[in-house]
Amino acid sequence: MWYFRSPQIVYGPDSLSFLQTIGISRAAIITDSTLAASGIVQKVIQSLPENASSKVFSGFSPEPDFLQIKSNLEGVNAFRPDWIIGVGGGSSMDAAKIIFAMYEKPDLQVYDITPLSPLGLRKKSRLIAVPTTSGTGSECSWAAVISEREEKRKNELASPEILPDYAILDPEMVINLPRQQTVSTSVDAITHAIESYTSSWNNPYSDALSEKALELILGSLVQVVEGNGDIESRDRVHIGASMAGLSFSNSQIGMAHALGHAFGAIFKKPHGTSVGLFLPEVVALNSRASRERYDRLNRIFPDSFREGNLQSSLKKLFARIGQPLTVKEAGIGRKEMESNRDALVSLAMESTGMLTNPYEAGTDEVRETLERCYGY
Ligand SMILES: [Fe+2]
Repeated sequence: MWYFRSPQIVYGPDSLSFLQTIGISRAAIITDSTLAASGIVQKVIQSLPENASSKVFSGFSPEPDFLQIKSNLEGVNAFRPDWIIGVGGGSSMDAAKIIFAMYEKPDLQVYDITPLSPLGLRKKSRLIAVPTTSGTGSECSWAAVISEREEKRKNELASPEILPDYAILDPEMVINLPRQQTVSTSVDAITHAIESYTSSWNNPYSDALSEKALELILGSLVQVVEGNGDIESRDRVHIGASMAGLSFSNSQIGMAHALGHAFGAIFKKPHGTSVGLFLPEVVALNSRASRERYDRLNRIFPDSFREGNLQSSLKKLFARIGQPLTVKEAGIGRKEMESNRDALVSLAMESTGMLTNPYEAGTDEVRETLERCYGY
């Protein structure tokens, strides 16, 4: 027996106006300090019902840690919201999920958030995710990443009960996303679509979502990255990224995420840049087990990027949009890389992404794959 889990998805231009229709009276908005100072959070507040009160909690850095969650939680408890709205990229939406769980159950410890035991949430409030990037898929997932700064690692919490009730995909929220963030987050989405398609937990629902997600993203990405994208192009990439998120949250990811999580935690590089860095070489390694599935995905690439195999098509696309293809291009020197190599390999080997990777790679193969991405 299997399940397919999804929030209710509201999408398209003007979808933020949906917030008028669900009886919100007290909204706690969880976001980061940059977005709080921008007009984006203001758009969400203006979309709330006229008589609703709202409070913005923005004391989070891009990768929230437990202390930040705890210090914001006090304010949320005092505000007593009936809805919690995560506005931002993956970090803000993940922070909102954790705060939602801990607001609902004040005795809950953060590592009690596991799929193994029922949490009994939704007694006081419900949860909405409004992504402001097109990539992480956090709005559709029942996982949340929390950083442990001392140990330079990220831990994933998961429970079906932290899946948002609603995901609102309004392209107005991403229309002015800067180029670099557009590239990094869309590369993350492409990696979700590909890794979920070849995950050992792939299934008919995730397959269909991955294929359509790639078609939507690849069909409009260059226009969007190069600033020629209209709202319709942004809308297609936004929906595609969310579909890729829905796909991997119902099937899992693989080794590019295992290496990327480790690399991002050690070198403080954006998540999408980190996973994309390893994707082409991981595809090359995994082709031993997934050649036919990769060929199917390769056929979805537009003519202008399609090469003889998926690895080459990805490299061509990444070169065009400015995604680094090597560790060197990502700005990490050889010495720095060498001194962290073993830590990176062992962090990657511990990652859950290795469990569902289609090819069972050993430590030596992971190290060799990493070294093929050096570029020195
Ligand atoms: Fe990702």
